[in-house]
Amino acid sequence: MTLYVLSKPILLHFLTQLRSKNIDQISFRKNLVKLGRIIGYEIVNTLDYESIDVETPLGTKAKGIYIYDLENILIISILRAATPFVEGLLKALPTARLGVIAASRKEKEVQVGYPEDIPVDVYYMKIPQVSHKDTVIIADPMIATGSTMRKAIKSIVNSQPKRIYIASVIISEYGLKRLMEEFPFVDIFTISVDPEIDNRGFILPGLGDAGDRAFG
Ligand code: PRP
Repeated sequence: MTLYVLSKPILLHFLTQLRSKNIDQISFRKNLVKLGRIIGYEIVNTLDYESIDVETPLGTKAKGIYIYDLENILIISILRAATPFVEGLLKALPTARLGVIAASRKEKEVQVGYPEDIPVDVYYMKIPQVSHKDTVIIADPMIATGSTMRKAIKSIVNSQPKRIYIASVIISEYGLKRLMEEFPFVDIFTISVDPEIDNRGFILPGLGDAGDRAFG
């Protein structure tokens, strides 16, 4: 398992704006799109490629590469907060196939004495057929306990894709440890590993409820 904590200033700049309580709904969504696009390109840089030659308009040959893994990308969007984030990922990975998982945490059931496993309702799932050549990217900007992500990984793991990536913006230390232990074959892309989860299941310092801030 590889953990990519992406720390380029442009990513931290947009994340800082997202964390601020003063950012409005439209800017919040736009920043998630921007982060999705940049993380998407970071993901592309890890894919397999081959050397090729191309002929230029001047009739000369140039050496180059072709990233053939781009032909087999499947993005899974975990609603709702991943919607603008996936819009950004698709700008970097325009040929991707797309699946969705609608999941909701039953936050009222979180007990004091956290962290515990938050019950998660998965009430819709539509995922295209997964092939052994696929790079599956499961996208969710916020990973708190990891319960939602755990269900998403389990929904595709038996199809044995070439690789499984998690694309996120913030992951809690607790969620990270839990996912790493249970799914050591999964690689994680994130911008920040935040230290705490409160007794309502919110990441601290976090950025609040990403779904609500993006969509009301
Ligand atoms: C949030 C977030 C993740 C999930 C993470 O969604 O976007 O999907 O919680 O929590 P976990 O790691 O503890 O499972 P939420 O359930 O609030 O739904 P929403 O995006 O529709 O608001």
